[in-house]
Amino acid sequence: MANVIKVTHEEDFHKVAAHIVASLVQTSPRAVLGLATGGTPVGLYRELIQIHKQGLVSFAKVKSYNLDEYAGLPTEHPASYRTFMNEHLFNHIDINLENTHVPDGQATDLDAECRLYDEMLSEAVIDLQVLGIGHNGHIGFNEPADSLNPATHVVTLLEQTREANSRYFGSVDDVPAQAITMGVGSIMKARQILLLVRGADKAEIIHRAVTGPITTQCPASLLQLHSNVTVLLDAEAGRLFQ
Ligand code: GLP
Repeated sequence: MANVIKVTHEEDFHKVAAHIVASLVQTSPRAVLGLATGGTPVGLYRELIQIHKQGLVSFAKVKSYNLDEYAGLPTEHPASYRTFMNEHLFNHIDINLENTHVPDGQATDLDAECRLYDEMLSEAVIDLQVLGIGHNGHIGFNEPADSLNPATHVVTLLEQTREANSRYFGSVDDVPAQAITMGVGSIMKARQILLLVRGADKAEIIHRAVTGPITTQCPASLLQLHSNVTVLLDAEAGRLFQ
């Protein structure tokens, strides 16, 4: 059963998340972080930058692996996840960019890129994996399906996911049709998982993921099988939890 923390005051949400990540890096300076994109972790990254600027934490020896990246989108595109990570976190802390990993969505051979990413992941144990959740229960870009791929793979995004992410693009037609995502096997191998969920629109799916049946139709529900998961909810996302 996950450790569910419901944060009453909205402004504390990001601070609590940042405290969990920063404490790990303070005690384990060589920590390996699994990082996520999307709107939800932006505040966490903002807080981490602040804690770093206060001189309280260094990321100089940290390694990071991101969950996913759009296929075919130039790395320098404003909506690429590499750009997102550089702008929201990496450019503002002392992490060595060479120690940060985001799948290369521009690789000519995407399957080869997936194998390469998995080889890198097999040499590193992720100490803490930060996750968000999609409205359909996806984690990374592991969409609901009859079966899930445990390894890094190319995925065709569901229309619903492209709609949800169209806010970062001109229109839904500009959202790439495919992405590379870390598989659920790699996510589940992380020592600790921090699942961040905000907003009333996520209340039902997070309740289903944490308390409902474990099913590939809700990929986040697989996290019920992990022994060290913290689910951080704001008041609205936590509406259905006592
Ligand atoms: C994208 C990302 C996911 C993220 C999800 C939710 O699909 N690939 O990793 O969890 O969006 O994003 P948001 O936090 O913006 O709701």
